[in-house]
Amino acid sequence: MILKELKVYFRAELSSVFELSEIDVFLYRLLDYQLQISKIDAILQPDLKLGVEDVFFFKKAVKELLDEKPLQYIIGVTQFYGLNFKVTDATLIPRPETEELVDWVLKDSLKKDDFSILDIGTGSGCIPISLAKNLPNATITTMDVSNEAIAVAKENAKSNSVAVYFIHDSILTYSSSLNKYDVIVSNPPYVRNLEKHEIKKNVLAYEPHLALFVEDDDALLFYRKITEFAAINLNENGVLYFEINQYLGAETVELVKGLGFSSVELRKDLSGNDRMLKAIK
Ligand SMILES: C[S@@+](CC[C@H](N)C(=O)[O-])C[C@H]1O[C@@H](n2cnc3c(N)ncnc32)[C@H](O)[C@@H]1O
Repeated sequence: MILKELKVYFRAELSSVFELSEIDVFLYRLLDYQLQISKIDAILQPDLKLGVEDVFFFKKAVKELLDEKPLQYIIGVTQFYGLNFKVTDATLIPRPETEELVDWVLKDSLKKDDFSILDIGTGSGCIPISLAKNLPNATITTMDVSNEAIAVAKENAKSNSVAVYFIHDSILTYSSSLNKYDVIVSNPPYVRNLEKHEIKKNVLAYEPHLALFVEDDDALLFYRKITEFAAINLNENGVLYFEINQYLGAETVELVKGLGFSSVELRKDLSGNDRMLKAIK
């Protein structure tokens, strides 16, 4: 098979499910991954011959795309805040909204000297690693209950050449922090079971439910536990940042205020949904 035949094959197989523009995005991303060939080079070499293993890879990828497997899990890598991150079925695929949260923490922190940050719920490590890359004066620690996620995040810290400390524990029971922090940041699980009908198969069937879901009758469990933890383990005037459930902005603000935090600020994401919160101890 040659490249131009591959393009025809992709369009023929996938056009019943995806827009042509989306199919081309998949194709060029997969070509970049498998053959390390840029879009422009692929366009300039329509007669490039593919090896047997490459053909096998692209046919398998087409099957997986038809099964709505996210491209990031097919190739095992994604981009976040300009960095590459390995992702596996134990880690959420980092979202653009979370880049907005990182941006908020970064912009507030750039002028700080010698300070410490704790991230809770590391997943791929996207939050602590992006912060570490941009805040050389910060000591950054991150926690996850999932050993598999921690292993992936450790690999990502190494491949992005940053130092991050890891805690393997559950924030629901963790209390014995020896250190105090200047910043605590978290994107914890926040999707209620009652919102499952809004979630597409590509998320529901492939992303770790441990990272996503909370019980309907205690949707703010993680926010309560993390805020209680922050009330004890943040330094005076320390800052708490959350990514939040867009439907629970007002409730989350009330919870954080009720646990003694002040200057609580709710912020919308680029889609106009309540998505981030900042509060001061
Ligand atoms: C919404 S994901 C966020 C992952 C990553 N920070 C991101 O933004 O892509 C939530 C993370 O919290 C972790 N988690 C779930 N329950 C936890 C617990 N009890 N203690 C600590 N981490 C937990 C999950 O394993 C998952 O990695």
